[in-house]
Amino acid sequence: MPAKIVTVFNQKGGCGKTMVSMQLAASFALRGHRTMLVDMDKQGTSTIWAGQASQDKPFPATVISLAPLREKLIGEIAKHAENHEIILIDCPPAIESSIPWAALNISDLALIPVIPLMDNVWASREAKELARRALEENPDLQTFCVPSMARRGNVFKACTEILQEDQGIPLLETGLQQRNAYGESQMFGLSVHGLSGSSAAAKEVEELAKVVLGKLGIELTRKPVKGKGSMNKQREVA
Ligand SMILES: Nc1ncnc2c1ncn2[C@@H]1O[C@H](COP(=O)(O)OP(=O)(O)O)[C@@H](O)[C@H]1O
Ligand SMILES: [Mg+2]
Repeated sequence: MPAKIVTVFNQKGGCGKTMVSMQLAASFALRGHRTMLVDMDKQGTSTIWAGQASQDKPFPATVISLAPLREKLIGEIAKHAENHEIILIDCPPAIESSIPWAALNISDLALIPVIPLMDNVWASREAKELARRALEENPDLQTFCVPSMARRGNVFKACTEILQEDQGIPLLETGLQQRNAYGESQMFGLSVHGLSGSSAAAKEVEELAKVVLGKLGIELTRKPVKGKGSMNKQREVA
Protein backbone atom coordinates (compact mmCIF):
# COMPACT_ATOMS: atom_id res chain seq x y z
CA MET A 1 0.00 0.00 0.00
CA PRO A 2 1.44 3.43 -0.86
CA ALA A 3 2.62 5.57 2.03
CA LYS A 4 0.50 8.13 3.84
CA ILE A 5 2.14 11.50 3.32
CA VAL A 6 2.32 14.17 6.03
CA THR A 7 3.60 17.66 5.21
CA VAL A 8 4.85 19.83 8.08
CA PHE A 9 4.96 23.45 6.92
CA ASN A 10 4.72 27.12 7.95
CA GLN A 11 6.54 30.08 6.47
CA LYS A 12 7.48 31.16 9.98
CA GLY A 13 11.02 30.05 10.78
CA GLY A 14 11.73 28.56 14.19
CA CYS A 15 8.14 27.52 14.97
CA GLY A 16 9.04 23.84 15.43
CA LYS A 17 8.55 22.25 11.99
CA THR A 18 11.72 20.18 12.19
CA MET A 19 11.13 19.28 15.85
CA VAL A 20 7.57 18.07 15.23
CA SER A 21 8.65 16.19 12.06
CA MET A 22 11.61 14.43 13.67
CA GLN A 23 9.85 13.42 16.91
CA LEU A 24 6.82 12.11 15.00
CA ALA A 25 9.02 10.23 12.51
CA ALA A 26 10.84 8.54 15.38
CA SER A 27 7.62 7.67 17.15
CA PHE A 28 6.08 6.10 14.04
CA ALA A 29 9.26 4.14 13.31
CA LEU A 30 9.48 2.89 16.91
CA ARG A 31 5.91 1.66 16.56
CA GLY A 32 7.11 -0.46 13.65
CA HIS A 33 5.78 1.66 10.77
CA ARG A 34 8.25 1.98 7.90
CA THR A 35 8.81 5.71 8.13
CA MET A 36 10.85 8.14 6.04
CA LEU A 37 11.42 11.81 6.75
CA VAL A 38 12.17 13.93 3.69
CA ASP A 39 14.18 17.04 4.54
CA MET A 40 13.22 19.78 2.06
CA ASP A 41 15.07 22.58 3.86
CA LYS A 42 18.39 23.41 2.25
CA GLN A 43 19.75 24.16 5.72
CA GLY A 44 19.45 20.41 6.23
CA THR A 45 18.68 20.44 9.95
CA SER A 46 16.86 17.09 9.99
CA THR A 47 19.57 15.43 7.93
CA ILE A 48 22.37 16.76 10.13
CA TRP A 49 20.40 15.81 13.26
CA ALA A 50 19.97 12.18 12.17
CA GLY A 51 23.64 12.18 11.20
CA GLN A 52 24.65 12.83 14.82
CA ALA A 53 23.50 9.35 15.85
CA SER A 54 26.02 6.69 16.72
CA GLN A 55 26.14 3.62 14.48
CA ASP A 56 24.85 1.31 17.18
CA LYS A 57 21.90 3.62 17.97
CA PRO A 58 20.78 5.13 14.67
CA PHE A 59 17.91 7.60 14.45
CA PRO A 60 14.81 5.36 14.38
CA ALA A 61 13.41 6.62 11.04
CA THR A 62 15.11 6.97 7.65
CA VAL A 63 15.99 10.63 6.98
CA ILE A 64 16.91 11.81 3.48
CA SER A 65 17.37 15.25 1.92
CA LEU A 66 15.57 16.00 -1.33
CA ALA A 67 15.98 19.79 -0.93
CA PRO A 68 17.87 20.27 -4.22
CA LEU A 69 14.92 18.78 -6.14
CA ARG A 70 12.57 21.55 -4.93
CA GLU A 71 9.05 21.00 -6.37
CA LYS A 72 10.30 18.00 -8.34
CA LEU A 73 10.26 16.11 -5.04
CA ILE A 74 6.92 14.60 -6.08
CA GLY A 75 8.44 12.13 -8.54
CA GLU A 76 11.11 11.06 -6.09
CA ILE A 77 8.62 10.62 -3.25
CA ALA A 78 6.44 8.44 -5.48
CA LYS A 79 9.41 6.05 -5.77
CA HIS A 80 9.63 5.72 -1.98
CA ALA A 81 5.89 5.54 -1.37
CA GLU A 82 5.66 1.86 -2.24
CA ASN A 83 8.27 0.89 0.35
CA HIS A 84 7.07 3.02 3.24
CA GLU A 85 3.95 3.33 5.36
CA ILE A 86 4.45 6.96 6.34
CA ILE A 87 6.49 9.73 4.69
CA LEU A 88 6.88 13.06 6.50
CA ILE A 89 7.98 16.14 4.55
CA ASP A 90 9.82 18.74 6.64
CA CYS A 91 9.39 21.98 4.67
CA PRO A 92 11.63 25.05 4.50
CA PRO A 93 10.35 28.28 6.10
CA ALA A 94 9.47 30.34 3.02
CA ILE A 95 5.85 29.85 2.06
CA GLU A 96 6.29 31.50 -1.32
CA SER A 97 8.59 28.63 -2.13
CA SER A 98 7.04 26.07 -4.44
CA ILE A 99 8.04 23.28 -2.07
CA PRO A 100 5.15 23.37 0.43
CA TRP A 101 2.70 23.81 -2.44
CA ALA A 102 4.02 20.72 -4.24
CA ALA A 103 4.11 18.75 -0.99
CA LEU A 104 0.54 19.70 -0.02
CA ASN A 105 -0.74 18.50 -3.36
CA ILE A 106 0.41 14.93 -2.68
CA SER A 107 -0.31 14.84 1.06
CA ASP A 108 -2.97 13.15 3.14
CA LEU A 109 -2.35 15.40 6.11
CA ALA A 110 -0.75 18.80 6.68
CA LEU A 111 0.49 19.99 10.06
CA ILE A 112 1.21 23.66 10.81
CA PRO A 113 3.28 23.98 14.02
CA VAL A 114 2.35 27.24 15.77
CA ILE A 115 3.86 28.68 18.95
CA PRO A 116 0.86 30.11 20.87
CA LEU A 117 2.17 33.69 20.66
CA MET A 118 0.68 36.51 18.60
CA ASP A 119 3.41 36.73 15.93
CA ASN A 120 2.90 33.04 15.25
CA VAL A 121 -0.88 33.43 15.21
CA TRP A 122 -0.55 36.21 12.61
CA ALA A 123 1.92 34.24 10.51
CA SER A 124 -0.24 31.11 10.64
CA ARG A 125 -2.91 32.91 8.55
CA GLU A 126 -0.68 32.75 5.49
CA ALA A 127 0.03 29.07 6.04
CA LYS A 128 -3.68 28.36 6.46
CA GLU A 129 -4.43 30.24 3.24
CA LEU A 130 -1.97 28.03 1.36
CA ALA A 131 -3.63 24.94 2.85
CA ARG A 132 -7.07 26.21 1.79
CA ARG A 133 -5.84 26.70 -1.78
CA ALA A 134 -4.24 23.25 -1.76
CA LEU A 135 -7.56 21.77 -0.63
CA GLU A 136 -9.11 22.91 -3.93
CA GLU A 137 -6.55 20.78 -5.83
CA ASN A 138 -6.39 17.97 -3.28
CA PRO A 139 -9.87 17.66 -1.69
CA ASP A 140 -8.84 14.83 0.67
CA LEU A 141 -6.17 16.92 2.38
CA GLN A 142 -6.71 17.35 6.12
CA THR A 143 -4.95 20.29 7.80
CA PHE A 144 -4.40 21.04 11.48
CA CYS A 145 -2.36 23.50 13.51
CA VAL A 146 -0.16 21.88 16.18
CA PRO A 147 0.70 23.69 19.42
CA SER A 148 4.49 23.97 19.51
CA MET A 149 6.83 25.13 22.29
CA ALA A 150 3.83 25.96 24.46
CA ARG A 151 4.44 27.06 28.02
CA ARG A 152 2.26 27.89 30.96
CA GLY A 153 1.12 31.49 31.23
CA ASN A 154 -1.72 33.79 30.33
CA VAL A 155 -0.38 34.84 26.94
CA PHE A 156 0.04 31.23 25.81
CA LYS A 157 -3.46 30.44 27.06
CA ALA A 158 -5.00 33.45 25.31
CA CYS A 159 -3.24 32.72 22.01
CA THR A 160 -4.24 29.04 22.23
CA GLU A 161 -7.86 30.16 22.57
CA ILE A 162 -7.53 32.37 19.46
CA LEU A 163 -6.17 29.40 17.49
CA GLN A 164 -8.99 27.19 18.80
CA GLU A 165 -11.58 29.60 17.37
CA ASP A 166 -10.70 28.64 13.79
CA GLN A 167 -13.18 25.92 12.87
CA GLY A 168 -11.83 25.56 9.31
CA ILE A 169 -8.26 24.61 10.24
CA PRO A 170 -8.50 23.38 13.82
CA LEU A 171 -5.82 23.31 16.48
CA LEU A 172 -4.94 19.76 17.53
CA GLU A 173 -5.70 19.06 21.16
CA THR A 174 -2.15 17.83 21.74
CA GLY A 175 1.23 19.32 20.88
CA LEU A 176 4.78 19.76 22.17
CA GLN A 177 5.58 21.94 25.15
CA GLN A 178 8.87 23.77 25.50
CA ARG A 179 11.28 21.32 27.11
CA ASN A 180 15.05 20.91 27.34
CA ALA A 181 14.73 17.25 26.31
CA TYR A 182 13.90 18.28 22.74
CA GLY A 183 17.12 20.22 22.30
CA GLU A 184 19.04 17.43 23.95
CA SER A 185 17.67 14.77 21.64
CA GLN A 186 19.16 16.69 18.67
CA MET A 187 22.57 16.67 20.29
CA PHE A 188 22.65 12.86 20.33
CA GLY A 189 20.97 12.31 16.97
CA LEU A 190 17.96 10.76 18.66
CA SER A 191 14.35 11.49 19.45
CA VAL A 192 13.21 12.07 23.02
CA HIS A 193 12.32 8.37 23.17
CA GLY A 194 16.02 7.57 23.20
CA LEU A 195 16.89 9.78 26.19
CA SER A 196 16.78 8.38 29.68
CA GLY A 197 14.60 10.41 32.04
CA SER A 198 12.65 12.31 29.37
CA SER A 199 9.35 10.56 30.02
CA ALA A 200 7.25 13.76 30.00
CA ALA A 201 8.52 14.69 26.53
CA ALA A 202 8.20 11.12 25.21
CA LYS A 203 4.69 10.91 26.62
CA GLU A 204 3.50 14.04 24.86
CA VAL A 205 5.14 12.96 21.58
CA GLU A 206 3.25 9.66 21.90
CA GLU A 207 -0.02 11.51 22.53
CA LEU A 208 0.57 13.60 19.40
CA ALA A 209 1.64 10.54 17.38
CA LYS A 210 -1.54 8.70 18.35
CA VAL A 211 -3.71 11.64 17.27
CA VAL A 212 -1.85 11.94 13.95
CA LEU A 213 -2.06 8.19 13.26
CA GLY A 214 -5.79 8.42 13.98
CA LYS A 215 -6.20 11.24 11.44
CA LEU A 216 -4.30 9.10 8.90
CA GLY A 217 -6.64 6.19 9.56
CA ILE A 218 -3.75 4.00 10.75
CA GLU A 219 -4.77 1.56 13.48
CA LEU A 220 -3.06 1.90 16.84
CA THR A 221 -2.19 -1.75 17.16
CA ARG A 222 1.53 -1.27 17.74
CA LYS A 223 3.13 0.22 20.81
CA PRO A 224 6.51 2.00 20.61
CA VAL A 225 9.51 -0.24 21.19
CA LYS A 226 11.01 0.91 24.48
CA GLY A 227 14.75 1.32 24.81
CA LYS A 228 15.39 1.27 21.05
CA GLY A 229 17.72 4.09 20.07
CA SER A 230 18.36 4.86 23.73
CA MET A 231 21.56 6.26 25.11
CA ASN A 232 23.08 5.87 28.55
CA LYS A 233 25.40 8.85 28.80
CA GLN A 234 24.88 11.21 31.70
CA ARG A 235 22.36 13.83 30.77
CA GLU A 236 20.41 16.66 32.26
CA VAL A 237 16.77 15.75 32.87
CA ALA A 238 14.30 18.19 31.35
N1 LIG B 1 9.16 21.86 21.98
C1 LIG B 1 10.36 22.45 22.00
N2 LIG B 1 11.01 22.66 23.18
C2 LIG B 1 12.23 23.26 23.20
N3 LIG B 1 12.87 23.68 22.11
C3 LIG B 1 12.29 23.50 20.91
C4 LIG B 1 11.03 22.85 20.79
N4 LIG B 1 10.70 22.82 19.48
C5 LIG B 1 11.72 23.37 18.80
N5 LIG B 1 12.67 23.79 19.65
C6 LIG B 1 13.90 24.52 19.29
O1 LIG B 1 13.49 25.73 18.66
C7 LIG B 1 14.29 26.01 17.52
C8 LIG B 1 13.43 26.04 16.26
O2 LIG B 1 12.82 24.77 16.07
P1 LIG B 1 12.77 24.06 14.64
O3 LIG B 1 12.02 22.79 14.79
O4 LIG B 1 14.14 23.98 14.05
O5 LIG B 1 11.91 25.12 13.82
P2 LIG B 1 11.64 25.23 12.24
O6 LIG B 1 11.96 23.92 11.63
O7 LIG B 1 10.19 25.59 12.15
O8 LIG B 1 12.51 26.35 11.75
C9 LIG B 1 15.36 24.95 17.48
O9 LIG B 1 16.49 25.44 18.16
C10 LIG B 1 14.75 23.79 18.25
O10 LIG B 1 15.72 22.99 18.88
MG1 LIG C 1 13.28 23.36 10.09
